[in-house]
Amino acid sequence: MSTERRKRRVFVKTYGCQMNVYDSDRMAEALAPHGYERAEAAADADLVILNTCHIREKATEKVYSDLGRLRDLRSERLAQGGGDMLLAVAGCTAQAEGEAMLDRAPYIDLVVGPQSYHRLPELLARRQREGKSQLDTEFPLISKFDELVRHVEAAPPSAFLSIQEGCDKFCTFCVVPYTRGAEESRPAAAVLAEARMLVQAGARELVLLGQNVNAYHGEAPEGGEWTLARLIRAMAEIPDLARIRYTTSHPRDMDADLIRAHGEIPALMPFLHLPVQSGSDKVLKAMNRGYTADDFRRIVDALRAARPDIALSSDFITGFPGETDEDFAATMRLVEDVGFAQAYSFKYSGRPGTPATGMRGQLKDAVKSERLAVLQALLEEQSTAFNRATVGRKTDVLLERPGRHEGQLIGRSPWLQAVHVSAVDLKVGDMATVEITACHPHSLAGVLALASSRSAAA
Ligand code: SAH
Ligand code: SF4
Ligand code: F3S
Repeated sequence: MSTERRKRRVFVKTYGCQMNVYDSDRMAEALAPHGYERAEAAADADLVILNTCHIREKATEKVYSDLGRLRDLRSERLAQGGGDMLLAVAGCTAQAEGEAMLDRAPYIDLVVGPQSYHRLPELLARRQREGKSQLDTEFPLISKFDELVRHVEAAPPSAFLSIQEGCDKFCTFCVVPYTRGAEESRPAAAVLAEARMLVQAGARELVLLGQNVNAYHGEAPEGGEWTLARLIRAMAEIPDLARIRYTTSHPRDMDADLIRAHGEIPALMPFLHLPVQSGSDKVLKAMNRGYTADDFRRIVDALRAARPDIALSSDFITGFPGETDEDFAATMRLVEDVGFAQAYSFKYSGRPGTPATGMRGQLKDAVKSERLAVLQALLEEQSTAFNRATVGRKTDVLLERPGRHEGQLIGRSPWLQAVHVSAVDLKVGDMATVEITACHPHSLAGVLALASSRSAAA
C-alpha cells in the first residue's frame, strides 16, 4: 500500500425526495474545496453522510438500521488497522430528532439540518478539533443558497434545481413544515444564473424543485416578485434548454397564469405531479388541504383545456384518521374520473408532533393496507393503459443514461416515461425522435424514427 496521503473521500446516501437529491450534490460540492472527492460506496469513504427523510415512520427506521450497519463497518475497518470513517446525518430526520439522535446513536459525529449544510466544512473541522459530536439544526438567517454559489463542470441531461425551500401549508399529517422550516423562495436572478450555468454544463432539461413549488414568489430582478409562471417564461428563453418541469405542486396554488403557461410554453413538459391525497371532502378538510375534490377536478379540466396532451400524476394517502368506507369510495371515484398516468400511494403513517397523530378514529393497519391494495390496483391499471396508448406514436426522448445492452440508451418521453432505445449513433444528452414499439411494466421500448437532433433544441 502506498504511504502517500490519499485524497479524502465522501459518500453521500440520499433518502426521500428530489430536494434531498439536489442537497446531496450540493453538500458534496461544498466539501470539494476542502479536499473531498466523491466515493462510490461507504466502504471506500472517510466520511459518510446520510441525507435522511422523515416523511413516514418506515423512512426514519431505515436511517437507524443503516446507521447500525455503518457503525459495524467502521469498527471492522478500525480493527483491521484502516483509517477512521466519520458518520454524519443530514436532512429531515436530523432536523426533527436533533439531540435525540445523538442520545440514541452517540457514535454519530455530526448532525446537521437541511438548512445548515453550508456549514458542513466548519462543523467537520470542529469535530476534529474538539473530538466530540457536533449538532447544527438551526434555521440560519443566511440562506444556504446565498452561501453556496454553484459551479459545476458537467451537469446531467436532466438536472434538478431547487428554487424554494420549506413549506407553510401545515397539512395535518406532514412533518415537512417542521423539518424544512418556513417557505422561502430564492431570488429569480439567482435561479436564472444557476439555470444558465447548468445548461452551459450540459443540462437539456431542468426540473424546478420545491415542496410547494407553485407557491414560488421570489424576488424579481427589477424589484417586486415573480410567480412560478413568470420564472418559467424567463427560463424558457435560455438557448439550448429544451425542457422544463417543476415539482411538487399544491392544487391550491395552481393559478390561472400557471395553467395558461402550460398551453403557451412548448418547453414546459405536458406532465404534472399534483398530489390530491384523497377524494373525500371530509378527509381533505381534516388534512387541512384547502380544496375540495371538485376543486381538484376543475383544476384538471382547466389544465387539459390549456394543454390537451397533459398527463397527470398524484400522491394518495389511505387510512387517514376517520376515513370511512364511503370516504375511500370517494377517492376511488376521483381516480376513475381523472385518470392518472402515474401515482404514488401510501398508508397513513402517524408522525410525532403532527396534529393528525392525536385525531380520533385512527385506523388499524389492516384497513389501511386493504384500501391501499384496492387503490393501487386501479392506479396500476390506469398507468398501464396510459403507457400502452403511446405504443405506435412518435415522440421526443431525452437520452439520459446508457442501458444495459450494447448501443442501448435510456431516456424519458415528455410524459416522464422511461424509454429504452437502440441508438448506436447517439449519445447521452441527445434528443431523439423515437417511435414507441412496445410497452413493458415499467418502461417503453422504441426505435429511432428520424435523423435525431444532437445539441439543438428539439
Ligand atoms: N409537498 C407535497 C408532498 C410532500 S411529501 C404535497 O403537498 O403534496 C410526499 C407525499 O408523501 C405526500 O404527498 C403524501 O402523499 C405522503 N405523505 C406525507 N406525509 C405522510 C404521512 N404522514 N403518512 C403517509 N404518507 C404521507
Ligand atoms: Fe407537507 Fe402539505 Fe407542505 Fe406538502 S403542502 S410539504 S404535504 S405540509
Ligand atoms: Fe422526506 Fe424531507 Fe423530502 S421528510 S420527502 S426528505 S422534504
